[in-house]
Amino acid sequence: MDWGLIDRYAKSLIKEAGHKIRLSFFDQIHIDSKSNANDLVTNIDKEIEQFFIKQIQTSFPGHKILGEEGFGDEINSLNGTIWIVDPIDGTMNFVHQKRNFAISLGIYQDGVGILGYIYDVIRDELYSAKKGEGAYVNDERLPKLEEDSIQEAIIGINARWVAPNRYIDHEKLLGLIQHCRGTRSYGSAALELAYVSSGKLSAYVSMRLSPWDIAGGKVIAQEVGAVATNLEGEPPSLLGPEPFIVAREGLHHELLTKYIVQKR
Ligand code: IPD
Ligand code: CA
Ligand code: CA
Repeated sequence: MDWGLIDRYAKSLIKEAGHKIRLSFFDQIHIDSKSNANDLVTNIDKEIEQFFIKQIQTSFPGHKILGEEGFGDEINSLNGTIWIVDPIDGTMNFVHQKRNFAISLGIYQDGVGILGYIYDVIRDELYSAKKGEGAYVNDERLPKLEEDSIQEAIIGINARWVAPNRYIDHEKLLGLIQHCRGTRSYGSAALELAYVSSGKLSAYVSMRLSPWDIAGGKVIAQEVGAVATNLEGEPPSLLGPEPFIVAREGLHHELLTKYIVQKR
């Protein structure tokens, strides 16, 4: 497999898709909801996913595609070459703020993440990584992450997980909120993964993320030494929704043992 060629192709596809998204601001956007009233989708999410699928199928007919909006293949195993795409991660931000959203793409070979991309469309910042060759934001190499203590950590977390919920002991999480330096919530899991990888956040936690939210970011995170797992400390399955944590190594261990404790 010529991964260098696939890398160049994927980057140009993402840039073209980003351009289409920016142009869409000049048109009327149609907004719908999916699983609930706050789970938004627009015609642009669907059009961009279809754009990716058409291009990938034409150029790499043997590859499979998993897309959030369901225009790709039905994926029950990670065998083969799979492109996992979220055409707009942070649709609520796209609709309400016209910023703080990203295109997320991960390309996996038999379950191993080879290429990862997160494109902040408005800032024109492309986070990318190729397994074993480091991670970049545009042409700038991202340094390996250094250890961070809870006291110095900025944690990416949505306030909903600090309220009582069915996944974790929220009282323990309150301890983390009190002890860490600060918390942030950006509303795009992909961007939050990019921020952990580039040192803007020390960790990011969510109780329910889908494969397309994390597939690209996981490859990037690994290249800078961040650890991305479910709450059992295992690699995400990438076959369905799961709790997710990504953090610098020591912090990841401390968070999972002291503060983010699953309900049994
Ligand atoms: C969502 C965003 C959000 C996260 C949700 C995701 P979408 O993706 O990443 O930050 O909290 O769980 O579903 O629906 O905007 O692609
Ligand atoms: Ca998403
Ligand atoms: Ca999406």
